[in-house]
This record gives sequence, C-alpha cells and structure tokens, in this order.
Amino acid sequence: MTSDGAKPGAASVDTSVNVGGIQLRNPVLTASGTFGYGTEFAAFMDLRKIGGFVAKSLTLEPRSGNMPARIVETPSGMMNAIGIENVGVEAFIHEKLPQIPEEVPVVASVFGTDPEMYAETCRRLSDVPQIKGLEINASCPHVKSGGIEFGQNPKVLAELVRVTRKATSIPLLIKLSPNVTSVAEMAKVCEAEGADGISLINTVQALEVNIETRRPVLRNVLGGLSGPAIRPIALRMVWQAAQAVKIPICGIGGIATGEDAVKFLLCGATAVQVGTANYVNPKAAQEVAEGLVAYAQAQGVSALRDLIGALELPESG
Ligand SMILES: Cc1cc2nc3c(=O)[nH]c(=O)nc-3n(C[C@H](O)[C@H](O)[C@H](O)COP(=O)(O)O)c2cc1C
Repeated sequence: MTSDGAKPGAASVDTSVNVGGIQLRNPVLTASGTFGYGTEFAAFMDLRKIGGFVAKSLTLEPRSGNMPARIVETPSGMMNAIGIENVGVEAFIHEKLPQIPEEVPVVASVFGTDPEMYAETCRRLSDVPQIKGLEINASCPHVKSGGIEFGQNPKVLAELVRVTRKATSIPLLIKLSPNVTSVAEMAKVCEAEGADGISLINTVQALEVNIETRRPVLRNVLGGLSGPAIRPIALRMVWQAAQAVKIPICGIGGIATGEDAVKFLLCGATAVQVGTANYVNPKAAQEVAEGLVAYAQAQGVSALRDLIGALELPESG
C-alpha cells in the first residue's frame, strides 16, 4: 500500500497501477518530449514521487530536428514542430539513462522513418533493465516522413505494431494520433496486433499565422497543439478508445492538476502523462500525483484504480 501525497492523519490511498505490464507506484508519468531525458528536472522535483517518465522519442541515429521557429505560445497551450531532435538510442542508453535513479521506471519512446528502423531501436532498448516499457510514437504530426503516416492509416499502423511487437517482449505501448477519424478503430488495430497498451493523445495538428509577415509562425508551417486547449479532445478520445479495447490506456493532453488526471481515469485511462504543464511548473507531475491522492481522500476512495472507467453517464431517453 502506498500513500503518496497523503496528509498526516488522512486515510492512506493505494496509488499503484499496472499499465500493460509496467508496474507503477502511482499513475502519473511525464509525456515524451516535455521532460527531456529526466535529468533536466531532477533539480526541481524528486523523480521517485511520480510513477515514472517517458523519455524524448529516440531514433537509431541522433537527429537535429527542424529549423526554428519551432515553438509558439497559443491561447491555453502551445504549438511545436521540434521534429524529434534527440541524442539517438545509443547515447540515451549509455550517457543519459545512468543518471536516472535506478528505482525510477523509464519508458523509452521510439520513433523511425520506416518500420524496420523502429524495430531495431526497440531491440536495442529491450535488454536494458531500467527500461520497463516501450512507447511507439506512431503519431508525430510534424516530421517530413514517419510518425503521423504510421498513425493515420489502419493498415500501416497494423504493420508497425506487428513489426515492433516481434522485436520486443517487454511491455509495448502505442502512442496514437488525435488526427484521425476514428480513434476507436486505431485502438482496435493496436490490440489485435498484440500491443500491451495505448497512449493518447499526441498533439493536434495546427497552424498559426503572423499577419505582419503574412507567414506561418513556425518554420515547418504546421505544428502540434498541446496544453489545456486540447484536454477535452483528449478526454473524448480516451473515453472512445476505452469503450473499444480491453488493453490499458495512458491518457495525455492538457493535464496540469490532480483534478485533470481524475477526469482521465474516470474516462477509462489507467495512467496519465503530464506534458506541456512541465514547462509552466517543473513540479507539475509531482503535484498531479499529490492531487490525485487528495481527491481520493476527499471522496473516500481507497485505491486510485477504483476510479478507472467510473464515469457515470446520463440515462438515455
Ligand atoms: C515541445 C514538445 C515536444 C514533444 N515531443 C514529443 C516526442 O518526442 N514524442 C512524442 O511521442 N510526443 C511528443 N510530444 C507530445 C507530448 O508527449 C504530448 O502527447 C502532447 O504534448 C499532449 O500532452 P500535453 O497537452 O500535456 O502537452 C511533444 C510535445 C511538446 C509540447
């Protein structure tokens, strides 16, 4: 029984959850690309207070990403077109990972421009003891090839899940795009091909314009919208996916408080990831974990997992 964030004298809350074989002390992870390689945030918070973290998407070779401007603030959120800048899988394993406390579960995010590249990166990460699971980024909306192409076509997504599933026996999460007509259909494809869980949502494809220059604000033209602006969209998609599949879901999108995280659990998420909020408050993920416990105590809920899928719907008719 764990009791993260419990007030002295208040009832203890069981915060542990299992996401497709990844055992977490609490359901709060940090989202890929918003928490660096974990080390950047160690000065601001105790990584052991969160469930774990998802590292920046990794490719087989290092990548420098897109040209600036790559980020812009928008109402209730931000847009980015970073383009998967990362140190590459080998530097992550040998230089970044050893700096993370051993007891912090790490989920490695994997990106590639073709399924075999994804598979090879998965193979290299699978034998590293601290890596408890892989998250396949099938949904980056702003790279020239790869990413979103894999997440928007059910046949292409099925092949990517099949190939990466073959490449690893550790827990495999597939991160889906919101830029699709039916997230339920995409979630079913992942389940049928043997994925252990689903993460959603990645950013929402967007465009911002500078009227003085009459140009797009981002050099890449299109970017991905994140932050509180997308939270209701993410809740809707988590809820729809949860109706469609039995595998667990990691809910992502605009989560900044414990209350936000509660909404995702009620809609069917087993765990959540905190993204853009880390830029506003580097302790956001820890505070989300504490806020979940405070809600459970106030509501007399003894285990956070009792909240999963507990959304009550209005009676029909
Ligand atoms: C600057 C930035 C970089 C991101 N990089 C990645 C990435 O490398 N891989 C990935 O799967 N998602 C990436 N994302 C998407 C986030 O992980 C998350 O899915 C999205 O931002 C929605 O959550 P949020 O509203 O809490 O930020 C990135 C988001 C931002 C803002």
